[in-house]
Amino acid sequence: MNAPLHELLESNRRWSAEMRAQDPRFFEQLAKQQSPKYLWIGCSDSRVPATQIVDLPPGEIFVQRNVANVVSHSDLNCLSAIQFAVDILKVEHIIVVGHYGCGGVQAVLDERRLGLVDNWLRHVGDVAEKHNSMLAGLDLMPLRNARLCELNAIEQVTNVCRTTMVMDAWERGQKLSVHAWCYSLDNGHMSDLNMHVDSRAELQPAYEHALQRLLRVPVAMS
Ligand code: CO
Repeated sequence: MNAPLHELLESNRRWSAEMRAQDPRFFEQLAKQQSPKYLWIGCSDSRVPATQIVDLPPGEIFVQRNVANVVSHSDLNCLSAIQFAVDILKVEHIIVVGHYGCGGVQAVLDERRLGLVDNWLRHVGDVAEKHNSMLAGLDLMPLRNARLCELNAIEQVTNVCRTTMVMDAWERGQKLSVHAWCYSLDNGHMSDLNMHVDSRAELQPAYEHALQRLLRVPVAMS
């Protein structure tokens, strides 16, 4: 076989055979329905695959990824993923996952022109401007990158919480919490950014708590 991408197709068949060897009914059961408990909103970066880095099999995480894990109130793609996950799948957790060393975040800090994507990254630019004083206090660029990656994940959690889908879910008493995490490419460790929101009333206190904690702790990159 010498079809384009044949290595990928061959490794797919090997993977499928291995999965069936471990559990002969794996695909049969998964094909009937998905019932993930988590919605993951992460960066498109190839080094941050959702299920793999938390060691979960297919079927466990509903995933939305875009450049720099942005949740924009006019992005029909992300809003639709949130709506489907909350209303239909009834996920219990939405996790916004940033990652240290994010190229999108770095492009904002460098004010580098990349093309069309600059318009998308303007959302991260807004986060940087909002927290300019915190960022200006960090003299080394890698530290500034790390802090903006953390701030961006926290700000995107507030955007998730302000969507009509999430507010309506809380209004009707649906169990749903929203969290901010940040992943280290250097050692594969996930950091909890201590922003957990499970009701509308908790959003502001949780946001302030997370920001205050960032001011207290040194920039963590692992
Ligand atoms: Co990234």
